[in-house]
Amino acid sequence: MADTHRVQVKGQDATLDVGKEQSILDAALRANAWIPHSCTQGTCGTCKLKVLKGAVDHRESPEYTLTADERAAGLALACLATPREDLVVEPTGAVDDDVPHHRLRDFTGRVTELSDVAACTRRLVVELDEDLAFNAGQYCELIVPGAGVGRQYSMANPPSEARRLEFHVKLTPGGLASDKWIFSTLSEGDRIALRGPFGGFHLVREQAEPAILIGGGTGLAPLKSIVRHALEHNLVPELHLYHGGRRREDLYDVEFFTELADQFAEFHYHPALSEETWDGAMGMVTDVVIDDFRSCKGMSAYLCGPPPMIAAAVKSLKRRRMAPRLIFREEFTPIN
Ligand code: FAD
Ligand code: FES
Repeated sequence: MADTHRVQVKGQDATLDVGKEQSILDAALRANAWIPHSCTQGTCGTCKLKVLKGAVDHRESPEYTLTADERAAGLALACLATPREDLVVEPTGAVDDDVPHHRLRDFTGRVTELSDVAACTRRLVVELDEDLAFNAGQYCELIVPGAGVGRQYSMANPPSEARRLEFHVKLTPGGLASDKWIFSTLSEGDRIALRGPFGGFHLVREQAEPAILIGGGTGLAPLKSIVRHALEHNLVPELHLYHGGRRREDLYDVEFFTELADQFAEFHYHPALSEETWDGAMGMVTDVVIDDFRSCKGMSAYLCGPPPMIAAAVKSLKRRRMAPRLIFREEFTPIN
């Protein structure tokens, strides 16, 4: 019996050889065939496919993302489903042909910095053995040694730094990647493996609309990449970066962004604290944004962080008349 099945992706003019244990998304991205996706772990539903011919193994696709009715209707999650036989599939999400897509590959590198930058937050810098091409805002999966599983972490560096990847990692108590590896056994000088790039959260094109960027905790990471990339290439007329934390100890890279704001007239930096009095903005970061803008009509937003923060931000921005199609988001959803 063959070790792979042939999978034709309609709309992409691509036919892939997909391993029996390999997800359809993994094979597609390695062949540079784009299937819209976000979390790569079965929690968001962005990667839904219509299976037009053949049968898939849904593996651990959760019912809350892919209901029994959807399975019966021939839908599957590309990030988890593997082929049981040759397939013809069609992504349900729209593919934006104007966005450059970068082939998914495996990488190795050496940890050159591992430092505590805020409460329960580490900066991890990896010097890769070869360049990684990606769009500002995308992420990689770091492979947890011994466990053989990956966890998603967004690049905080701009694509122009293709060998030196910067990640911001928040501690999840008891977490396999963060607690048991990155915050305990990992050291500077260690060699690590990762794969990427992934994700549809990005800023790649010149845009006429001013942008509001809102990050909660380590949700700052992809926004830092986007801000640096946008300023390097003069892509956005005005950028307002909001970073929310509870206390002063939750904020990081304050000096970096303050200096950047001094350097670039079009960049504005607003750190905000919800539980400590200080001389900066106070309150939930989304409320601070709403106080600053009477109308967000004609503006765009890039949001990143925990799902409740994103939901609150979307609601507030819509109330301020921002067009939903101009609200882009990356949710740091945990695996359940
Ligand atoms: P796990 O072993 O996966 O989890 C341990 C337990 O904690 C589980 O029960 C799990 O359900 C629960 N849990 C995990 N996370 C949370 C949470 N946030 N809130 C409540 N319970 C939780 N994280 C970053 O710090 N920086 C990033 O740049 C980043 N980028 C991401 C990009 C994407 C697209 C996604 C989907 C996630 C991203 N994350 C990021 C989250 C990250 O991938 C891991 O989920 C997180 O670090 C926890 O992994 P872990 O292996 O330590 O914990
Ligand atoms: Fe597949 Fe999120 S469910 S990418």
